[in-house]
Amino acid sequence: MSGSAKRSVTITLDGSNKSVSIPLIEATVGTPVFDIRKLYGDLGVFTYDPGYGGTAACESKITYIDGDEGILLYRGYPIEQLAEKSTFLEVCYLLMEGALPTATQFKDFELGVMRHTMLHEQIREFFNGFRRDAHPMAVMCGVVGALSAFYHDSLDIHDPASRTISAFRLIAKIPTIAAWAYKYNCGQPFMYPQNDLGYAENFLYMFHAVPAEPYKVNPILARAMDLIMILHADHEQNASTSTVRLAGSTGANPFACIAAGIASLWGPAHGGANEAVLKMLAEIGHVKNITGFLSEVKDKGSHTKLMGFGHRVYKNYDPRAKIIQKACHEVLSELGIKDDPLLDLAMELEKIALNDKYFVDRKLYPNVDFYSGIILKAMGFPTSMFTALFAVSRTVGWISQWQEMIADPEQRIGRPRQIYTGAPQRDYVPISTRG
Ligand code: SDX
Repeated sequence: MSGSAKRSVTITLDGSNKSVSIPLIEATVGTPVFDIRKLYGDLGVFTYDPGYGGTAACESKITYIDGDEGILLYRGYPIEQLAEKSTFLEVCYLLMEGALPTATQFKDFELGVMRHTMLHEQIREFFNGFRRDAHPMAVMCGVVGALSAFYHDSLDIHDPASRTISAFRLIAKIPTIAAWAYKYNCGQPFMYPQNDLGYAENFLYMFHAVPAEPYKVNPILARAMDLIMILHADHEQNASTSTVRLAGSTGANPFACIAAGIASLWGPAHGGANEAVLKMLAEIGHVKNITGFLSEVKDKGSHTKLMGFGHRVYKNYDPRAKIIQKACHEVLSELGIKDDPLLDLAMELEKIALNDKYFVDRKLYPNVDFYSGIILKAMGFPTSMFTALFAVSRTVGWISQWQEMIADPEQRIGRPRQIYTGAPQRDYVPISTRG
């Protein structure tokens, strides 16, 4: 643990002579932590924190979030500056290596990634095993997990060279897999990657191009795609990243770990929210229905959530949502879309919710998923692809966090405990004597 401990707290158990000193480890910036690793050994008790709302599962130097101030830093750089000045591939280097690259370092990195964009021809056959209407996230889970069947040369997680080539392969191939999942779904031929295109441009090419005619990616869309990928690249210890770390802590290979992260991201409470926001807006249908819908949300019994709102960490506006909302307006006007009824409805919904005591009291603000679906729909993506696009962007965050965990000398297999409230020990009775 690299943080320093200048302060501590002593816990004494009432009714026993046991006590333990718990050091307080300071962070570079943000919340310090109590290092409770001695608690069970010294006091014989566990801590209880379902959902880990107040638990730090690891030490990390990658991403910092201040939920109260709405701050997001990748390796110390504010997301607003990276969104405006950087590119997704440069952010990939930053997340993985911890520093912005020199021109030479970036050129080598870009070459390293773009040389791995193709899939083994045998992997094409995997797609044929799915129904044409399979959800793209089901395809992504299956095909990414299957990559470990093809790269036996890079499964040694303790070999840094293997970790690096696996990272390059995953970052390079995930857009191809996502684009092919879409092509398979709509019955069009797969388009091979064009390595002379930019990363986001290449993805849009594989997604939209057909063999029957030349296709030029709209630079406005390429820039918007690159921006969306930057915003979704990493986000501290969210559910899918924690899934990748837990799977990786057992020594599972990186392809299996990323497949586990994709599965976790799929849930509507997490990365599936962008798809759920569009469905919610379609259900609301018109501004006049907003008040009725919000009444349903406030009725706990309805189990209806305002999708794209709320966050475990942000108790302020998600900075990514602000950037995406601004990009929405820019992309729509650059595409000549005068007004998008979905965007108008979303903005009115946000305005009403942000002035409603229920949401204000609970500090529920728009998160990254509230506007991302609107811009993706305007860019021509089907709703079913939204979470797959999130997975394409987040793969670099997952692999960076996985690499950090594997290289952490304090890393151990993740094995949470529980409080048991089930039946005490009892003896088996034959069925003939049961009531
Ligand atoms: C992502 O963790 C990350 O970093 C994730 C992510 C990333 O980049 O990896 O940022 C991406 O997953 C964004 C979140 C996308 N999900 C959604 O938009 C789905 C809708 N949001 C909710 O399901 C919810 O807000 C969560 C899951 C995001 C957070 O859940 P929490 O932490 O359990 O919610 P909370 O404790 O802050 O809730 C406080 C109160 C509760 O009500 P009370 O019991 O106090 O009466 O607010 C309520 C909640 O029921 N609440 C909502 C709500 N979110 C919370 N009520 C209505 N609509 C909502 N969206």
